[in-house]
Amino acid sequence: MEIALPDLAATMALGARIGGALKPGDLVALSGPLGAGKTELARAILRARGVMGDVPSPTFTLVQPYETPGLTIHHYDLYRLKHAAELAEMGLEDALDDGAALVEWPERASLPGEMLMVRLSDGTAGRKAMLEGPARWAVLERAHV
Ligand SMILES: Nc1ncnc2c1ncn2[C@@H]1O[C@H](COP(=O)(O)OP(=O)(O)O)[C@@H](O)[C@H]1O
Ligand SMILES: [Mg+2]
Repeated sequence: MEIALPDLAATMALGARIGGALKPGDLVALSGPLGAGKTELARAILRARGVMGDVPSPTFTLVQPYETPGLTIHHYDLYRLKHAAELAEMGLEDALDDGAALVEWPERASLPGEMLMVRLSDGTAGRKAMLEGPARWAVLERAHV
């Protein structure tokens, strides 16, 4: 599924759809070059789950946890990941055991299991998202208007 993201309102709307469908154990990979809109989409997903405060980019902390009603969500940014073992130290498996994870720069590590892959880009035709994932994520398509 391909979705145009011409402005932040479009990113918020996509975040609301993904956020609404998010369940424990879900991994959402946010892929794309610097500035493609990965953090903005993570922010939109967290906002949709009721996060009111600041949602900083976890560029330096690598991971930021959020308690949302009914679901713990860990927001990762693997850009500065030095070696794959670091990810285990940051508790991704545990994060997925008791909640969901949003992962920027997923290609920096070998991530476990199934995931919703969101490929963000900002080309001459504007910003867009390409979504790909297991069948259960087809709910995003049905929610499309
Ligand atoms: N859909 C969008 N429309 C307009 N600006 C956007 C959109 N998505 C992101 N931006 C802006 O682009 C810049 C980079 O976004 P960011 O989410 O930090 O990128 P990334 O995390 O992929 O490096 C920010 O200033 C952000 O507000
Ligand atoms: Mg970012």
